Amino acid sequence: MIKVGIPREVHLEEKRVAATPQTVMRLRKLGFEVGVESNAGDEIWCSDGAYKEAGAIVFDNVKELWSWADVILKVRPPEQHPKLGIHEADLLREGGWLISFIFPSQNKRLLEHLASRKATVFAMDGVPRITRAQKMDALSAMANIAGYRAVIEAASHFPRFFGGQMTAAGKIEPAKVLVVGAGVAGLSAIGTARSLGAIVRAFDPRSATRDQVRSLGAEFLEISIKEEGEGIGGYAKEMSEAFLQAEMALFAQQAMEVDIIITTALIPGKPAPKLITKGMVESMKPGSVIVDLAAEQGGNCAMTEPGKIVTHKGVTIIGYTDMPSRMASLASQLYGSTLVAMLEELFDKESGTLKVDYEDQVIRGALVVHEGKITYPPPVTPPSPEPGIPAKAIPAIAQANQVTSHETKQNVNPVWLLLAGLVLFLIGIVAPSSKLSHFTVFVLACFVGWQVIWNVKPALHTPLMSVTNAISGIIIVGGMLQLSGFEFNVTTILGAIAVFVATINIAGGFLVTNRMLAMFRK
Ligand code: NAI
Repeated sequence: MIKVGIPREVHLEEKRVAATPQTVMRLRKLGFEVGVESNAGDEIWCSDGAYKEAGAIVFDNVKELWSWADVILKVRPPEQHPKLGIHEADLLREGGWLISFIFPSQNKRLLEHLASRKATVFAMDGVPRITRAQKMDALSAMANIAGYRAVIEAASHFPRFFGGQMTAAGKIEPAKVLVVGAGVAGLSAIGTARSLGAIVRAFDPRSATRDQVRSLGAEFLEISIKEEGEGIGGYAKEMSEAFLQAEMALFAQQAMEVDIIITTALIPGKPAPKLITKGMVESMKPGSVIVDLAAEQGGNCAMTEPGKIVTHKGVTIIGYTDMPSRMASLASQLYGSTLVAMLEELFDKESGTLKVDYEDQVIRGALVVHEGKITYPPPVTPPSPEPGIPAKAIPAIAQANQVTSHETKQNVNPVWLLLAGLVLFLIGIVAPSSKLSHFTVFVLACFVGWQVIWNVKPALHTPLMSVTNAISGIIIVGGMLQLSGFEFNVTTILGAIAVFVATINIAGGFLVTNRMLAMFRK
């Protein structure tokens, strides 16, 4: 049985833990043995007893836990253990597995350290943000919490209501909130601020976010420069200097109007763009609040101090870098669920072992060290070729691209076209006129069917399938009518073939529907 170990987080003020009693139960159901360090769940009000009840073994000795486990689940990247005076990477047993946040581009030395332990390491921050990987998308789960918490933090420092009110004592204007960057955290912040009744405006260089922002009831701000911000994998790319200048001019104007600014602008692997200057902070009304979620990457605001709250000329600037940890029980539950999904993906039911499948885009994206070999960065996955298309659409785009290349190979040789024309002409001359009208309908049906079905991109195959299934239903009825005579002639043979082919299509429809539904089942 595979042994999964969950140590207590050692990072200063980290309250999250990589498993809750609920996720322990799910791991046990999958057939894993689970070990938890004693007091690991103290900060999320989960006692050792609760973990034991869920089926975990509680270890008092942390060294023992690390060497017992085949796989260690963690939240923060391994670091120096403050009590043991030893690095967590050295606690991992040689050849052991580790799944946690790693942030490999910023932690090259840690990767080397883990490689020297011959470890196999999966970075939860490396899981590609594609539809299939949503249940393993720990970054989005945490960003969602961060966006919500950013609004709550802002509200607790803001001296007014968010929503407008008409009271006997006078009219209260609603607060105005500007959200910079409409990724997962930004959208979550927009939704939360809207639900509290604020007027919300948002800006993002990725045009795909326009409708998402509007659908949450916020105003999408635009600038005159047209430059698409969509980069690889649905993430943003670095914008041109002219674009940054134009958006900063917009923010300068907004800063004087709005009460709260929440910034979430980020380009993966790059320092956060500085978008809110000291001058803009000073132009805000006293009592205003800025929450800079990008604080850990250097901050979007020039005055942010990571991990701290600073006040400048009446404006509060919140630079907390641990928003999910401030809602630790929810964050642990969601993060723990993404880890369970990851282990499910790695688990090979046939052999009962964990397997690394390099062909699996999700596994390959997260794999940063394999049996002592650094495998980061992973090969580049298909880029988002069309502006404005979110990462989630990438698999469909990749398929659509395959069709395009397929189609280019389809360029029909004119000789074949000429031959086909000649055959049709000859049939037209020799065929009896009674059969000719049927034949014309047949040729037209083939042509229209080909155009309709072959030119449809795979992304649209599901709706197409309902149409082809309906057509198959008509074909089956027609075929059965032909078969009803019990005579063995060309018509009944064709009828039988029609019934057979249409049955394949209908059965295939059920099969594909079942597979699609399975993707959404837990
Ligand atoms: P994301 O990559 O989904 O979103 C970032 C957004 O910023 C994208 O929509 C992108 O288009 C936008 N952006 C990039 N350049 C921009 C520019 N020049 N102007 C305006 N927008 C721009 O990232 P996610 O997951 O939403 O996280 C957002 C930020 O929150 C990140 O910096 C992340 O590290 C941080 N975060 C902070 C936490 C905390 O505790 N403080 C916790 C979780 C996330």
